[in-house]
Amino acid sequence: MHLVKALGAQITGWFIAILALRLVDSVQPSPWGLLLMQGGFAAATAWWMRAPPWWIPIHLAFSPLILLALRAQIAPGWYLGIFLLLAAVFWPTLRSRVPLFLTNRATADTLLRILPSGPFRLIDLGCGTGGLLAYLARSRPDAHFVGLENAPLPLLVARILTRKLPNCAIRGGDLWAEPLHEYDVVYAFLAPPPMGKLGRKAARELRAGAQLISNSFALPDRAPARTIHARRGTRTLYVYEFSGAAEKPAKRASVPPLAIPAAEA
Ligand SMILES: C[S@@+](CC[C@H](N)C(=O)[O-])C[C@H]1O[C@@H](n2cnc3c(N)ncnc32)[C@H](O)[C@@H]1O
Repeated sequence: MHLVKALGAQITGWFIAILALRLVDSVQPSPWGLLLMQGGFAAATAWWMRAPPWWIPIHLAFSPLILLALRAQIAPGWYLGIFLLLAAVFWPTLRSRVPLFLTNRATADTLLRILPSGPFRLIDLGCGTGGLLAYLARSRPDAHFVGLENAPLPLLVARILTRKLPNCAIRGGDLWAEPLHEYDVVYAFLAPPPMGKLGRKAARELRAGAQLISNSFALPDRAPARTIHARRGTRTLYVYEFSGAAEKPAKRASVPPLAIPAAEA
């Protein structure tokens, strides 16, 4: 949907820029002027379409960057290489709407402070390049860590980064297909769109006493047991506790068979 909006904004930008030049004959901008004008109209259209804010600078710079790249006469193989590299990182994002960004060290330290004091099993749902898990696994050799990732290049990097850590396993796969009942802590640093679905999955699958810790994004329909607010470079951590089986949908009360009086039978 975002890509369709982006394409619409770019085309509209060209349409308005050409229309404006036709209407105001006296203005003859340079190629750079025309591209900046188009970028401005495309950015304004994206803003009007309520596209996320990071699209605004992308629209502003898109056409001027194309001209810059054409003038630089870069060999076509580079474009293919960069496209394949970006696809290996971001292709699954088109569907999941969860881009790659990483938990920073300050937040990882806060996370370490709130993890259980005894041995535990933790899964990072969407582990990215695995830096967080490598750090946690080195700091807590008594615990076991699992990372799940569906983007090929981050998955490869995560496997390389954690290959010498016996208490850390990285797997390729879809987080929605992973049963959560065997974990004591589920860590997620995703994005707003999947948080409702994640909350429902956690309520269905987590054992009593298990925790879901979400970096930056709260579950929409559940209050956290604790919120560790962002400070000094850390991000907010939302800690949810689940009561396990009690959260499974209640079984329908069985209806006693209807007693039919003997006279009616
Ligand atoms: C914001 S990054 C967080 C990376 C890492 N957990 C950290 O905190 O540093 C989210 C990651 O989740 C991955 N992801 C998104 N949807 C996924 C899915 N359905 N299955 C597996 N991984 C997924 C993305 O590819 C991305 O690498």
